[in-house]
Amino acid sequence: MTVKIQIVDVSKRFGPIVAVNRVSLEVLEGEILTIIGPSGCGKSTLLKMIAGVLRPDSGDIRIDGRSVVDVPMEQRRIAFVFQNILLFPHMTVGENVRYSPVVRGVEKSRAEQLVATIRDFLRLRVREYAYPRELSMGMQQKVALARALAAECPIMLLDEPLSALDAIVRARLRYELRRIIKDLQLTAIYVTHDQAEAMTVADRIAVMRKGQIIQVGTPEELYNRPMHPFVARFLGGEANFIEGVVREVVEDRLLVEAPPFSELQVVNPGLEVKPGSKVILAIKPEDLILGRGVVEGEVSLTSYLGDSARIEIEVNGFRFVYRGPTEMYTQLSEGDKIRIDVVRERVMVMKYPEEGLLEAISIE
Ligand SMILES: Nc1ncnc2c1ncn2[C@@H]1O[C@H](COP(=O)(O)OP(=O)(O)O)[C@@H](O)[C@H]1O
Ligand SMILES: [Mg+2]
Repeated sequence: MTVKIQIVDVSKRFGPIVAVNRVSLEVLEGEILTIIGPSGCGKSTLLKMIAGVLRPDSGDIRIDGRSVVDVPMEQRRIAFVFQNILLFPHMTVGENVRYSPVVRGVEKSRAEQLVATIRDFLRLRVREYAYPRELSMGMQQKVALARALAAECPIMLLDEPLSALDAIVRARLRYELRRIIKDLQLTAIYVTHDQAEAMTVADRIAVMRKGQIIQVGTPEELYNRPMHPFVARFLGGEANFIEGVVREVVEDRLLVEAPPFSELQVVNPGLEVKPGSKVILAIKPEDLILGRGVVEGEVSLTSYLGDSARIEIEVNGFRFVYRGPTEMYTQLSEGDKIRIDVVRERVMVMKYPEEGLLEAISIE
């Protein structure tokens, strides 16, 4: 696989703020990489440096193996789609989409063919002569996307392109976005702070926090094998975190004492730990077992979610979140006593973070 975009040890400060802190990242040709992280972690700053809107303080950015740090924005052949829809308000839909082909002097019949293809891809059933203000937000963002695609750039950067839209439109458009980027064989970096969106759109996801990339992997890798509690917090649904101490190391297994569980035998993902080492365990809501085990708790909240039930259980000061079949919602009531256990093979084990658990999973 060819590397299309290469970010090498890039940093950017704004006065005292380190917005991007020594980030290195590669995006393969034809790949969609999503960058997910909380607000203010440096996502937009990183994209702007790739696009050429901002210049890195240090490090290098390469496209097709060549440094572009000194290449002006217009010559980088990168299309950019922003959260705030950028359309020319005084131009019709047709004029907006044709803008780039016209400016680039693309021959008329080829330009028309290009525009028709993009409209088909986007299923853009919208009147050619309508003005942006006459369209819904979802439709406007589709037109903005069509306009960006008409620039025929091999690289597309999308900065929270759906966050101005309401939930239903958003949920639908993310599938279409992935489909069109794949169909046109573009290389894309897609920034979002929404877990479901990041997982839906991505080939690989990079999790960003405080200016740094903390893990890169496929959605499946990050969901099941997080290397940092923050990754499990951000991509693990509503993972339950507990602190533990390793009691024994037996081949690829660890025996961990992790209150309220006195002994859990879990799979070691390759951590260098020894008896006495502190670790973090993360348990997904779907990996909690209700109704058996030695640990007893009390049901404190029950919710019916249509396709599943969500139950909260309090166990001496710990609050666990369970997700499972809707029958559990019917069977359990708030105040019921219940035993809980965990699917041991699926417990995720991570190194204890220097800053402590609470700080490590904090979204701020
Ligand atoms: N032009 C700027 N001037 C000063 N500070 C900035 C500027 N742009 C971004 N920042 C700061 O840099 C940090 C990262 O911002 P940003 O890249 O926009 O984050 P994100 O897109 O992840 O929300 C934030 O603390 C933000 O306030
Ligand atoms: Mg941003």
